[in-house]
Amino acid sequence: MASKSTSIESPYLPVPVTIESVESISATERLFRLSNGLASSRSKVSVKGGKGGAPVYSPGQFFMVGLPGYGEAPISVCAPYEPGFGIELCIRLAGNLTGALHRLGPGDTLWLRGPYGTGFDTEGFKGLDIIFIAGGIGIAPMRSLLLAVLKERKSFGALRLLYGAKSPEEVLFTEETEQWQEAGLETEVIVDKGSKGWKGRVGLVTDLMGPLKPTPGSTRAVVIGPPVMYRFVVAKLKRMGLSETDIQLSLERRMKCGVGKCGHCQINSSYVCQDGPVYGLGDLKGMGEAFK
Ligand SMILES: Cc1cc2nc3c(=O)[nH]c(=O)nc-3n(C[C@H](O)[C@H](O)[C@H](O)COP(=O)(O)OP(=O)(O)OC[C@H]3O[C@@H](n4cnc5c(N)ncnc54)[C@H](O)[C@@H]3O)c2cc1C
Ligand code: FES
Repeated sequence: MASKSTSIESPYLPVPVTIESVESISATERLFRLSNGLASSRSKVSVKGGKGGAPVYSPGQFFMVGLPGYGEAPISVCAPYEPGFGIELCIRLAGNLTGALHRLGPGDTLWLRGPYGTGFDTEGFKGLDIIFIAGGIGIAPMRSLLLAVLKERKSFGALRLLYGAKSPEEVLFTEETEQWQEAGLETEVIVDKGSKGWKGRVGLVTDLMGPLKPTPGSTRAVVIGPPVMYRFVVAKLKRMGLSETDIQLSLERRMKCGVGKCGHCQINSSYVCQDGPVYGLGDLKGMGEAFK
């Protein structure tokens, strides 16, 4: 079962949060660290759970991140909750709002609502082998799950990350990847198109799946990436014998409210902002739209 966690008390009320640091990690992605605890300027905002008034969240969950005059966008947590440590968000420059967010620096304020949605049930993964398959910006939410699992490395079986990006320039967290390997995560990276100096694999993330020999029932596969990737990755995992209960996905849909009111994220009777974004494959029966 996916997990839910505590949140800012009013789900509709954004609170101001100070940016502690911003790191440019590629031409189009920035890693924001937000100050620990919400809203220095509105410290009486009532929040449940976290130390110092910070919200508690799980890998897989997201915040609605906003700026007055620009709107709001769902952005996944990029690192697991840790008392005393700020919220990390990896934001890709995509359009109007994310462009404005990329112009912000340390000391500036952005606005948050959340956390929303279902997270990964890391407790339920204990004792199992885990295959993490990430595509593109999917590595951002995946990182929060990886870091949570690596923190308790001994509680899990074999851990393997297969990560595909469009080009070497778009591979994120390169230096960290080495630390993850040292911590016990076997990692393979592939790019759609190589460039000068790239010595790694070239192809699609499915090309990395050949040597996998998962044991059904004692392996979980977690897939986060663009919908087109899901169809091929899931088909391959199933051919390897994994069942629907062995496979979890995080869906990325257009969202507006984040709280099950506007219908923007709806697929059939499911509101991805509330029932997801993390789903077991079995929960997506009859929801073919999820893969488009
Ligand atoms: C649950 C969830 C988690 C997300 N986590 C992250 C994250 O961790 N980091 C990150 O950089 N982005 C994440 N996104 C995507 C992010 O929300 C969008 O890139 C953002 O809304 C773009 O806002 P904008 O105003 O800058 O761009 P817009 O001007 O609204 O759009 C710019 C371009 O991006 C496309 N676009 C906008 N929203 C989406 C979407 N939801 N899915 C696919 N294409 C979209 C538009 O079609 C357009 O081509 C997440 C989305 C969801 C639903
Ligand atoms: S984003 Fe409004 S219902 Fe999900």
